Amino acid sequence: MSDERILSAEPVGDELGIELSLRPRLLREYIGQAKVKENLAISLEAARRRHETLDHVLLFGPPGLGKTTLANIIANEMDAHVRGTSGPAVEKTGDLAAILTNLEAGEVLFIDEIHRLPAQVEEILYSAMEDFHVDVIIGQGPAARTVKIDIPRFTLIGATTRAGLLTAPLRARFGIVHRLDFYDVESLTIIVQRSAEILNIPITLEGAHELARRSRGTPRIANRLLRRVRDFAEVRHEGAVDIEIAKKALSMLEVDDYGLDEIDRKLLTTIIERFGGGPVGVSALASSIAEDRGTIEDLYEPYLIQIGFLQRSPRGRVATRLAYEHLRYPITSMRPQNRLF
Ligand code: ADE
Repeated sequence: MSDERILSAEPVGDELGIELSLRPRLLREYIGQAKVKENLAISLEAARRRHETLDHVLLFGPPGLGKTTLANIIANEMDAHVRGTSGPAVEKTGDLAAILTNLEAGEVLFIDEIHRLPAQVEEILYSAMEDFHVDVIIGQGPAARTVKIDIPRFTLIGATTRAGLLTAPLRARFGIVHRLDFYDVESLTIIVQRSAEILNIPITLEGAHELARRSRGTPRIANRLLRRVRDFAEVRHEGAVDIEIAKKALSMLEVDDYGLDEIDRKLLTTIIERFGGGPVGVSALASSIAEDRGTIEDLYEPYLIQIGFLQRSPRGRVATRLAYEHLRYPITSMRPQNRLF
């Protein structure tokens, strides 16, 4: 089923190869995130001039906005080799010690979902990041001793969906911290056009704009919609993806005018119908719609909040006026205290 989901958190199935080919390789090819780009360009240039490795970089933001892409770009720009792993994949301290002691000078180590590193594994990182050594414990019991192993200077790039999930000591060891925001429609339109050109998909400006507008500010979703709409255009029509085809295909895919999918709508209608519009705690909401709590917090909520459909209040999530209007519930059915939202 996950292959069918427009909004899945991860690249799926055959997308992996295509995703890679669509990813920009250099900073100047990277579209959007102007502030991050500008700051990174300066950090990179300064490190290059001093012939130093780049400071450790933390990238955070919702899935699909280009954290992995940026990590690869940083490595390319530094002419460095990149090794990648992820928080959940590194289970034991020995696993991370092995990775760190095998690094070569100047290499980039990319750790995706870095907030999911087990606590003891994370501790190994502290000295590695700060002083470029790892403390390895050899033996057990009274005979155990710690051996300090020096490692070459390297750049750690950590990615996480929410900076708040990181422990304070880990966060403090990143010299460069950037948050990726949802993309604006103009940037996404250019990304869709660029991808269409690479994939040889004829598309009009209006068609690209329509896809961009309904991609939840997320390049991964824009690229995914582009390929689904291409299928539709090839089977049902001939010629370019224009605005009509884009609209028809998106409506068949049940992506609405705001780019919301079935689960976004279910989340909002559940708050409205079962919880009187809220406030409702995220755990209650998660079990109500049978979704993982983390998925709601990382993937669904940020965009619904960004477009003003959902508010976080101290007592839980509240559906806003805009959500009521969009889903065609009467405002008069809102709890009076919620009408402020
Ligand atoms: N493809 C996916 N994300 C992109 C970006 N930010 N810039 C250019 N191409 C992309």
